[in-house]
Formats: sequence, structure tokens, C-alpha cells
Amino acid sequence: MSAKLLLGKEVSAHIKKELSSDISKLRAQDITPGLAAILVGDDPASEVYVRNKSRVFKNNNCFSETFTLNANTQEEEILALIDELNNDDKFHGILVQLPLPKHINSRRVLQSVSPNKDVDGFHPLNLGYLLEGNPNFIACTPNGVIKILEFYKIDTNGKHVVIIGRSNIVGKPMFALLSQKFKIGNSTVTMCHTGTDDIAKHTRQADIVVAAVGVPEILTSDMVKEGCCVIDVGINRIDDLGAKKGYRLVGDVDSESLMDKVSYLTPVPGGVGPMTITMLLFNTVKSALNSLN
Ligand code: GUN
Repeated sequence: MSAKLLLGKEVSAHIKKELSSDISKLRAQDITPGLAAILVGDDPASEVYVRNKSRVFKNNNCFSETFTLNANTQEEEILALIDELNNDDKFHGILVQLPLPKHINSRRVLQSVSPNKDVDGFHPLNLGYLLEGNPNFIACTPNGVIKILEFYKIDTNGKHVVIIGRSNIVGKPMFALLSQKFKIGNSTVTMCHTGTDDIAKHTRQADIVVAAVGVPEILTSDMVKEGCCVIDVGINRIDDLGAKKGYRLVGDVDSESLMDKVSYLTPVPGGVGPMTITMLLFNTVKSALNSLN
């Protein structure tokens, strides 16, 4: 038996279609959902992400403006820009592309984004609302995983979910979402991380594994239960001299070895990846709708 592939592209198309009526409604009132993306430095992967965001917003009748600052920019300058954007009604969402250069205090920068425009869901207030069970903006990647599970009708109720990775961007909000008494949630959630003694001992008991570690192909078939569902959040570049670009993208999951053992699997690329930008669009439209009140 070969695993059913869970395709973020399919889920994204469904969500974008649902959003289109809200976007039309806003446009009819002369409101175009707008995102301000702040990019500091010239990290090639970040540049690609930001470019993709602009394209998706444009293709969905929204707009995105990128503010590019050089790698030596001082923190005060970034904070001043964010203050300006917080007060500019044209922008319903503000995104600070991570990682920021080392001399910048990322925490201070993320906290300066207005919680009402925090479409990344990284502000501590929004993380707190989520933990409390009353979310406002939810971080895009973990919320994208929830939408995939919902779309493909994968039951989470009472299931054992094992998350590998405790980042603020994916692991922690994923934990908060799946442990809530939500329609997609109500799971028993175990979180594994670098302090975990024997990760495989936990993942072998999981009905659903979410791998969000950033280590290529760390989850192998001997680590999972037959018939489980595996969500691969990782996108890692590994050298491949045979490839045109000299590298190829792989996830945190050794998909080849898992394919015949698990029931569901998100491929890399094409699984969770496309959901992140779609959920950013979702949050920006939500913020624009909030501005009507
Ligand atoms: N860097 C890696 N993932 C993300 C994300 O979802 N949002 C932002 N702002 N930066 C990132």
C-alpha cells in the first residue's frame, strides 16, 4: 500500500476560492487587503519567500509591498519603519521575514508589530490568545497543517500526535492548536525536541507525526507505526551535483522509506509549503475585514 499524498496546493486552491468573495466584498468598498513585508539583508531563501508572497497576493487581487533594508541596518531604523507601518491604514498586515541579522534583537522587533496587524501570529499577545484557546492571528504554517488535516478529513479527536521540534514558529503553536478542544484538535500531544532521550520511542506510538525540526530526512520508517499520518514541515536544501541548481529540496522525513508504511504523507515540495503563504493571505484578509468594524 502506498501512502495517500496530502497536497497543500489542492487545499490552498480551496481556501483561496473561499477568500475570493471576502476580497471582492472589500474591494467593492475600496479596500484592498495589503501586506507590508520587511526583508533585512540578502538571505537568498528569504528573498525567494518574499517574492513568492508578493506574487500570490497580486494573483489574488490583494497587494504586498516589500521594504528591503540592507544587512547593516540598525534596530532603531527597523523599529521606526514598523511604527510607521503600524499607523498606515493601507497595510492590514505586517510581516518581518525571519531570520533577522544577528545584531538585531528579533524578539524586540516582533513585539513592536501591532498585534492587530500581526498576520504572522508571532506577537506574544497572539501566541498567548492561542494558548488560552481564543486565537486572533494564528501562525501560518501550523494553521496550514490544521487546514490540511481538515480538508483530507483526518481525524485528530483523541488521537496521539507527536510533534518533533519546539520552535515558536511551528512546534509550539502546533502544540497549542492540536491540544485545544477545537474541531481539528482535541488530541493527546507529545512534543519531542533536542532534550528528548529517544524520539523513536514516542513517534512509534503516534497516530499523527508532525516533523518540524529542520534536519533532512530525520524521520525514517523504523520510527513510525504502520498506517499513521506523517506531516513533513521541513524544507531543507541538500547538495545534489546532478541537479541543475546544484541542490535539491528534501523534508525532515525520509519519504521514500515511509511511503509504503504510512497511510498519509505530505510531500516536499508541494505538501505543507504552499499553505504558509495561503494562510498569510487568509490572515491579511481577516485583518482587512476587521478594519471594517
Ligand atoms: N521564516 C521562515 N518561516 C517564516 C514565516 O512563516 N514567517 C516569517 N516572517 N519568516 C519566516
